[in-house]
Amino acid sequence: MKQDRHFPRPSELAPLMKFKGFEPDGRARRLAKAHTIADLRAIAKRRTPKGAFDYTDGAAEAELSLARARQAFLDIEFHPAILRDVSQVDTSVSIAGGRSALPFGIAPTGFARMMHSEGERAGASAAGAAGIPFSLSTVGTTSPEGVAEANPEGRNWFQLYMQKDRDKSMQLVSRAAAAGFDTLLVTVDVPVAGARLRDSYNGFTIPPALTPSTVLNAIPRPEWWINFLTTEPLTFASLSEWQGTIGELLDALFDPTVDFEDLAWIRDQWPGQVFVKGIQTVADARAVMDVGVDGIVLSNHGGRQLDRAPIPFHLLPSVRAELGEDAQIILDTGIMSGADIVAALAMGADFTLVGRAYLYGLMAGGREGVDRTIEILSKEIVRTMKLLGVASVAELNPGHVTQLQRLVPRG
Ligand SMILES: Cc1cc2nc3c(=O)[nH]c(=O)nc-3n(C[C@H](O)[C@H](O)[C@H](O)COP(=O)(O)O)c2cc1C
Repeated sequence: MKQDRHFPRPSELAPLMKFKGFEPDGRARRLAKAHTIADLRAIAKRRTPKGAFDYTDGAAEAELSLARARQAFLDIEFHPAILRDVSQVDTSVSIAGGRSALPFGIAPTGFARMMHSEGERAGASAAGAAGIPFSLSTVGTTSPEGVAEANPEGRNWFQLYMQKDRDKSMQLVSRAAAAGFDTLLVTVDVPVAGARLRDSYNGFTIPPALTPSTVLNAIPRPEWWINFLTTEPLTFASLSEWQGTIGELLDALFDPTVDFEDLAWIRDQWPGQVFVKGIQTVADARAVMDVGVDGIVLSNHGGRQLDRAPIPFHLLPSVRAELGEDAQIILDTGIMSGADIVAALAMGADFTLVGRAYLYGLMAGGREGVDRTIEILSKEIVRTMKLLGVASVAELNPGHVTQLQRLVPRG
């Protein structure tokens, strides 16, 4: 079709030209381009040595537990309600005797200063700023006191692996209590370490060894190495001189004899609330609640322990039915978006924890990277809630979600 044409006029072009100011801070520039947790993962992969990235990103054996847990979140259908006033959305919840501004917290993960030199301090301070809890692992690379210093006003939780040297374990627990940590997560799914095969293939050890392949791999990732070599060396309360894979280390350290009687004893040592992390059956959920703990974390450890383990998100409705409305149920494993969190809350979780989503942010950009993780998840939660027509977490219910069937047990 013939159209009338003219030369573009400067007065028409001017309003279309939008040159954004150049952001001189490389980290801020990088993070601004990440709009999903998967984007943060991609940045993390580019910037972190293969050994540390794979230790974080990987899972046990064929990594089916993790893949299935993530797939289960993708395999849902949401059912929105329309014509509700969602101008204001309240994302806050009560969990473990306190408030959280968002319905997720940071899961305990070991060795965070290996992923990025800012490590647990970055996680704890970002969590504090966002008003959500931060969890410190027994095999963290920052002391309980250091975490309390990084997050002095906010909530810190401590995760316990019972070590063969029980006095050492309980000394760490006492230090966490003295530093004001309010909740204890007792992890029960590591009688032995899962087979994290990527670590074996990579020859990944603690501390990371300088071999020809790690040196080659370091060349395009100078910032990580400069930070690693010029900040405080990695030290651990219990394992300063280790030379081996992390799996071998965990096996040397942890006590595989821990049983329900020990759990009852640990419960009595802690002044605040106690949650058992790593529950994978309805029967065990009931059994630990009968011991008198305050709640459970339905989790398969992010797929890092038993491979082909139950999918926590699929287990959730039956565990909620067994424990009743009042039991506190936290869920983790496989969460990669705010929509996953909303789905978990709708299906009966009170709260969720994110492990890798936090660490991808940390590896992508230290403290600011963790801020970005929290911001991305928070925006996704708010948007999903608004699109579902709910103005508070309490309004979410199983009617908002169908778990589509792909991997379900045969009847
Ligand atoms: C690198 C890494 C280290 C972890 N270390 C611990 C740990 O020391 N103690 C623990 O209870 N769980 C640990 N976990 C498991 C997390 O607490 C959490 O259960 C898991 O990451 C949730 O799955 P997600 O990564 O898909 O969010 C670790 C997970 C990762 C990815």
